[in-house]
Amino acid sequence: MILVCGATGDLGGRIVQHLVDADHAVRALVRPETSADALEDLGVEIARGDLRDEASLAAALVGVDTVVTTANAISRVLAGAKDVSIASVDLTGNRNLVAAAREAGVHRFVFVSAAGVDRGMADRAPLVAAKRATERLLRDSGMEVVLARPDMFQEVWLAPASGIDPAKGTALVYGKGNTPQRYVAVEDVARLVAKLAVADDPPRIVEVGGPEQLTRNEVVAAFEAATGRRMTVRHVPRVVLAVASRLLGRPKPALASLMGMALHTDLHPGEWDDAPLRDAGIDPTPASAYIAGSVRV
Ligand SMILES: NC(=O)c1ccc[n+]([C@@H]2O[C@H](COP(=O)([O-])OP(=O)(O)OC[C@H]3O[C@@H](n4cnc5c(N)ncnc54)[C@H](OP(=O)(O)O)[C@@H]3O)[C@@H](O)[C@H]2O)c1
Repeated sequence: MILVCGATGDLGGRIVQHLVDADHAVRALVRPETSADALEDLGVEIARGDLRDEASLAAALVGVDTVVTTANAISRVLAGAKDVSIASVDLTGNRNLVAAAREAGVHRFVFVSAAGVDRGMADRAPLVAAKRATERLLRDSGMEVVLARPDMFQEVWLAPASGIDPAKGTALVYGKGNTPQRYVAVEDVARLVAKLAVADDPPRIVEVGGPEQLTRNEVVAAFEAATGRRMTVRHVPRVVLAVASRLLGRPKPALASLMGMALHTDLHPGEWDDAPLRDAGIDPTPASAYIAGSVRV
């Protein structure tokens, strides 16, 4: 039995779909207040619970061989939820999950972390710091651990959510915008994580990006080419990102995380590539194809 935590999210839901398609038995940890209808329709077993509720984790883990978790608080926090936080979910909640999985005798634990987690990004972003802390706990857990570390998602970082809005014709560029990144498709990451969950001898660390390297300035140019219109571009200076990510670290850790991640990626090109996707038989979506597709009406 595979327990997926975060199954009602975008990446988590896609991972579940791939596991179900491959005929694996899946249980999903779903918070009491969240609908599980779509998962039930797939034939997924539902365990009601919450990473912050240790008793619910022990119950959800009975008979589980493999845990896959994508669960995180940032999207809900940025949407204004007051009842979840990076500290309680991504830090303490993941700590609870690791301890409960170990106690339950789980064999394999697949943790969706982030590319760059051990290259200084955690110093600027509380979310990434929580991921690094969880990775450390997992390394000492005795379980077979797979750390999946994807680069920035195309659907988040090439989209209005991060300030690129082709419909409005506006684009935010973080810092100078000249550092290349490998934006990766959520669907490609989902297929990879589902394979890692059931592979015979998976790699322990999988740092991965998309097939194409693009700077933020090149991203804007690609949107302009795809729409045939110039965009109004606003740069957020590095110094603003640096100061804001420091000052907001305590009062607004989710916002601080976004600014810290944006600054880090403007300073450091990724050192990973798409080899893990290709090795798994996945033909990855280039960022430029995503951009062209996202502006089509
Ligand atoms: N965006 C990027 O560029 C990027 C890059 C690298 C790595 N990542 C990582 O990739 C993953 C993305 O996952 P996603 O797209 O599925 O995220 P998502 O759409 O934001 O979904 C978050 C999931 O976590 C669940 N969750 C939140 N708090 C919980 C709690 N206390 N207990 C149990 N579950 C809880 C949510 O449940 P509810 O529906 O009940 O709230 C939901 O299922 C994350 O781990 C992220 O850090 C993202």
